[in-house]
Amino acid sequence: MKTITELRQEIVDRSLQAFHEGLFSGTSGNMSCYLREEDLMLITPTSVRYDVMRAEDIVVLRLDGTVVEGHLKPSSEWRMHAAVYEGCPDVNAVFHTHSPYATAFAVNHQTIPAVLIEALVFLGGDIRCADYATPGTKEVGLNAVPALEGRRGCTLANHGVLAVGGDLAQAYLNAEYIEDVAKIYTIARSVGTPVELKNL
Ligand code: 13P
Repeated sequence: MKTITELRQEIVDRSLQAFHEGLFSGTSGNMSCYLREEDLMLITPTSVRYDVMRAEDIVVLRLDGTVVEGHLKPSSEWRMHAAVYEGCPDVNAVFHTHSPYATAFAVNHQTIPAVLIEALVFLGGDIRCADYATPGTKEVGLNAVPALEGRRGCTLANHGVLAVGGDLAQAYLNAEYIEDVAKIYTIARSVGTPVELKNL
């Protein structure tokens, strides 16, 4: 099992990668993992640029918001992450991106159809859009839980994307596939009529 020090560094490394890949923009988006047995959530701090973020900036807190370790404020979306950990017992990593193609579906309150095999194998099917809630509130996470039923991700209305997994590597991969499917579907629509896998 990875130590807290290793996990803090992993969050920083994956966050920087996400920033370079365009999954994050500005200081938006956030990433966390949850050590369920210890009730410890490790999460990116709020409003810190990813290219200057360091391992010690990652905040360690309990799901009730009690900060255990950290000199910065946790992500403004920590309540959303906590609600997902409470509502999805098999999820131990949450990755909230603003990846542009998938977020465009979130702005339209539109499901991202399963048009590639990766959508079925990794994501569990199409990607639903969770009902809108004010960013920063627990309701964002509470609305995401039903949208995540049988899925490894969803979008958040007028907000962004949520990818989940058993660990950070899985959540990261799922975030990449959500964006990939949204992007390919969008391009396919611009040149023709995409066919969903369920219709084959
Ligand atoms: P922070 O994690 O920097 O608070 O980002 C907020 C955000 O991404 C809202 O969607």
